[in-house]
Amino acid sequence: MICAAMLAGGIGTRLKQGMPKQFVLINDKPILAHSVETFLNVKDFDKIIVSSPKDYMDKTKLLINKYCSQNEKIVVIEGGLTRNDTILNSINYMKSQNCEKDSILVTHDASRIFVSEKLIIDSIRYAMEEGAASPVIPATDVIFESKNGDKINNIPQRKYLYHAQTPQSFNIDTFMKIYNDLSSEEIDKLNEAMMLFYLRDVDVKLFPGDKRNFKITHPSDIKLAESYF
Ligand code: CTP
Repeated sequence: MICAAMLAGGIGTRLKQGMPKQFVLINDKPILAHSVETFLNVKDFDKIIVSSPKDYMDKTKLLINKYCSQNEKIVVIEGGLTRNDTILNSINYMKSQNCEKDSILVTHDASRIFVSEKLIIDSIRYAMEEGAASPVIPATDVIFESKNGDKINNIPQRKYLYHAQTPQSFNIDTFMKIYNDLSSEEIDKLNEAMMLFYLRDVDVKLFPGDKRNFKITHPSDIKLAESYF
């Protein structure tokens, strides 16, 4: 089984639009609809699991019915408290469908509306071959590490730094095996799904991302996204 987890369980506080960012219109279409549409064009998926904040389940279902014509593959589930909890809810949904061993989950930030079909297909292929995969962009700026935002604690060499993007894909059995082995302190540190593999020394295949595949996060990103159309 290959499923997509369209992560839209957040509320988009940094975008400051007075509503969760997945409902904000870009080029007259909600952010969520743009991303789901590209995923629907990839025929490999058994299900596209769209998550939603608890209080917006009806609004999310209405959006899917309005904008996604071939929506038999789509199921809307409740998101979790954190992004990782939303991923876990998506895995639980797959388990509830009696998915086979070695099933793959392709996780994607709904707010990366310029994801290409190629990125999705590459992500699936690498996860099938190597267990877990993430697109990345090499860092162009030098990055300072600072614990308080005031003084530098570390300056990692730029040639070793990459920005992580989605779609990130992985074998759900490997993911759950590692997750069940983590301590509660390690679970608290999970600010990124791939960190789980890193914590247990399981390789994640990095492959080239795409600069256009940026995450709509701040108000100025709305203008940038509009300009891409
Ligand atoms: N996400 C999720 N469940 C959560 C939190 C986030 O599915 N509990 C999703 C968001 O909907 C988004 C993606 O993860 O598509 C990336 O997260 P981010 O850009 O941080 O989105 P938000 O949490 O919505 O934004 P903010 O941090 O500005 O509140």
